[in-house]
Amino acid sequence: MKLSYSILAILAAAVSALPSELTNFFLVTADEATSASNSSMLAGVSATSLFDPFYRDTPVLRLQSEGYNSLPNFTLSSGTLHTWTYGPHGQGYFQYNSTHVSANSTLRFLPDDQGEGNLGLENGYLVTVDGKCEGWSICPGELGSKVLVWKAVGEGCIKTYLQAVSSPPY
Ligand SMILES: *[C@@H]1O[C@H](CO)[C@@H](O)[C@H](O)[C@H]1NC(C)=O
Ligand SMILES: *[C@@H]1O[C@H](CO)[C@@H](O)[C@H](O)[C@H]1NC(C)=O
Ligand SMILES: *[C@@H]1O[C@H](CO)[C@@H](O)[C@H](O)[C@H]1NC(C)=O
Ligand SMILES: *[C@@H]1O[C@H](CO)[C@@H](O)[C@H](O)[C@H]1NC(C)=O
Repeated sequence: MKLSYSILAILAAAVSALPSELTNFFLVTADEATSASNSSMLAGVSATSLFDPFYRDTPVLRLQSEGYNSLPNFTLSSGTLHTWTYGPHGQGYFQYNSTHVSANSTLRFLPDDQGEGNLGLENGYLVTVDGKCEGWSICPGELGSKVLVWKAVGEGCIKTYLQAVSSPPY
């Protein structure tokens, strides 16, 4: 009796820890595809933020180390990631939408309607492209940044998983 209670408790904890009901989430990169109730516990975890160093109004997703002011959070609908942020030079505040992701392309956002995209969440937390979670890389970006690329062809890229998490890892 005692045993089945503790099993139930473990199951309940595991279910409540599942991020399957995430509607508003942060994106992190990790070396592993498994989820963690606390994103700090993910192997090789890194927070991400938007990066638009030359004010082109096409921010990309880059790795973000500690010492940030805030991190963007996201929603996913119609195969597209959405996030609210300021325009170049802090002008305006818009909903940025991810563009259709293709091979060797950087995950990119535009303040425009992007229609139906090809992103999804496997098991409620692993970001997929056309249903596949394998294919994300961290590649060298502008000004020494590290950016997210799908099916990267370039050199110096490292395989990663992109995960939706309820709280930032740091
Ligand atoms: C997650 O784990 C980190 C590292 O062990 C810890 O500092 C932090 O308090 C934990 N966060 C939560 C919400 O439990
Ligand atoms: C998500 O981001 C928006 C806009 O920055 C902010 O108002 C909201 O509080 C954030 N939600 C969470 C859960 O961090
Ligand atoms: C892949 O993307 C990189 C960076 O944008 C570019 O330099 C390279 O030419 C692309 N390679 C192919 C085969 O498309
Ligand atoms: C982003 O896409 C949504 C629909 O998915 C749209 O309502 C919104 O206007 C778009 N953002 C901008 C700035 O156009």
